[in-house]
Amino acid sequence: MPEVTVTRRMHFNAAHRVHNPELSDEENERLFGKCNNPNWHGHNYMLDVSVTGQIDDRTGYVMDLAALKRVVQEAVIDKVDHRNFNLEVDFMRGVIPTAENIVVGCWRVLAPRVAPARLVRLVLWETPNNYVEYEGR
Ligand code: NI
Repeated sequence: MPEVTVTRRMHFNAAHRVHNPELSDEENERLFGKCNNPNWHGHNYMLDVSVTGQIDDRTGYVMDLAALKRVVQEAVIDKVDHRNFNLEVDFMRGVIPTAENIVVGCWRVLAPRVAPARLVRLVLWETPNNYVEYEGR
């Protein structure tokens, strides 16, 4: 059977502060600028979740996108939407909440939950102009 990649886009809003507690305030300010604001700031994030697999003979689907939506909702969106990445998100504990680290955290919670399809790509949009991609390597 042919293998096809299917993608579901999800949205969430969350706050963060990009800050490395091991560096001085001056160094943090120099490295992270506005994103180091001690009083937090937010983004309207978009997460594109792509899974690959063979087309199921019986359904014609690789994975029912409604089922993929439920998985992403439970594993990611319910934990991050209207939350603070620095303070409230279990899978981000101990890492600086840059888009790079957030996308890797999302991968770790999603990858085990999409079988028999395989998670092949996550694209996390932090702004309409900035996004990061991760393919699990
Ligand atoms: Ni930011």
